[in-house]
Amino acid sequence: MNKCILITGGTKGIGKSVAIEMAKSGYDLVLTYASDNLSAAKFKQELKDDYNISVHILSADISAKESIDVIHSFLIAKQIKLTSIIFNAGITSRVSFEEIEIEDWERVFFANVHFPVFLTQRLLPQIEIGGNIVFTGSLMGVYPHSVSLAYGVTKSAVHSLVQNMVKFLAPYKIRVNAIAPGFVDTEWQKTKPAEIRKRIEDKIALERFCEPDELAQIYKLIVENNYLNGEIITVSGGYSYK
Ligand SMILES: NC(=O)c1ccc[n+]([C@@H]2O[C@H](COP(=O)([O-])OP(=O)(O)OC[C@H]3O[C@@H](n4cnc5c(N)ncnc54)[C@H](OP(=O)(O)O)[C@@H]3O)[C@@H](O)[C@H]2O)c1
Repeated sequence: MNKCILITGGTKGIGKSVAIEMAKSGYDLVLTYASDNLSAAKFKQELKDDYNISVHILSADISAKESIDVIHSFLIAKQIKLTSIIFNAGITSRVSFEEIEIEDWERVFFANVHFPVFLTQRLLPQIEIGGNIVFTGSLMGVYPHSVSLAYGVTKSAVHSLVQNMVKFLAPYKIRVNAIAPGFVDTEWQKTKPAEIRKRIEDKIALERFCEPDELAQIYKLIVENNYLNGEIITVSGGYSYK
């Protein structure tokens, strides 16, 4: 049996590229997503056809508490042990400071911070000794976000979480790291107006957004390098060096 990786939000964007990168190396995959069943099923079939691995897809909204039970029960029912969890899915809320509602603030915190903490807690027995967890932070957890306060603060919390969790996961011989991507060309970014994209590119030394497959290579490195632990790896193309 191949080693198996759980990737949240693994059917589109960065998560999809990470899934392909790991599939190329023969890992089995459990990919969660929010609600687009059709895209998820199509991607599952592509992976099975192209890489001859086992792929499961599972709808599990990270902003809902019940999703922790859904993922846990699924792994138990299928008797799946994980070598890695890649926390990739994340949400934002683009409202001005004056308009933030407490419910919205809590929703972003639950999805980006509480969900990975309590899913990790629940899945500990399902993670192999020597396994690892990769979080997805953000450059906007390092530099203040100009639009979403909740997003920036939760991504900072993710970075801090990683460094704190190292201590708590050491007894289980589980490594924990994060990637802090800069600007990656997924749907999330493609919808930005051209002048805003240009303004961002002007701040990046490489003068372009990151391709999702370039980022996926770093996820694979973190999963496979047995000495990386407690690191926040920024992948920004040289943001702010220009
Ligand atoms: N793109 C960037 O420039 C960038 C930069 C820094 C950090 N990040 C971080 O990287 C991660 C992925 O970003 P991305 O740009 O690849 O996003 P994306 O394109 O929006 O990712 C879509 C994937 O996430 C799933 N998803 C969305 N909302 C979800 C929810 N509430 N519950 C469960 N799954 C959900 C989608 O499922 P459906 O298809 O069902 O909706 C799909 O599988 C996020 O944590 C983001 O904060 C991104």
